[in-house]
Amino acid sequence: MDVLLSEAQIQERVRQLGRQIEADYLGRPLTIVAVLTGSLILLADLIRQIQLPLRVALHQASSYKGATTTAGPLAINEAFVPDVAGRDVLLLDDILDTGHTLATLVEHMAERGALSVKTAVLLRKIGRQVVHLEPDYCGFTIPDAFVVGYGLDFNDDFRHLPYVAVLDEDHTTGG
Ligand code: XMP
Repeated sequence: MDVLLSEAQIQERVRQLGRQIEADYLGRPLTIVAVLTGSLILLADLIRQIQLPLRVALHQASSYKGATTTAGPLAINEAFVPDVAGRDVLLLDDILDTGHTLATLVEHMAERGALSVKTAVLLRKIGRQVVHLEPDYCGFTIPDAFVVGYGLDFNDDFRHLPYVAVLDEDHTTGG
């Protein structure tokens, strides 16, 4: 697999995002809602770069099923919906692809009474977005390829890689 973003590049960018978020919220309490499971590594690294009164919650929504790289309908697990009423929420996801996941969750957080909802992603794929959503914080813009590592998986594998790599074609074709 070809490494697209090295561990050092990701760590540096996550530090910068942390600084930016701190400056924007200026000491106000923030609730980070991370979308399971792909954003877990980003969540762990990012929150340690943010010196703000901080709550962390998880949300589960997924459009990928197992060994496939094509999206199905978005499934939201209501059991994971956090209490965000009256809170400034930052939704955190691994990657912005079509935009369906984050756009749906932004609405969901607003419906639950969040005071404000912003979005942060590590990656944004070029030329894939079908839903209009401008992420407030974005780590890297990447080409349209299926990527794994740093939380992103293929068939639940590769999440633990400390870098982001482009998945080989023989994985997706079963070869
Ligand atoms: P949408 O299309 O809703 O998709 O913006 C966001 C979700 O799709 C998954 N996704 C990927 N997962 N490698 C992955 O491991 C990829 O290249 C990729 N592209 C999209 C991901 O779960 C994300 O939250």
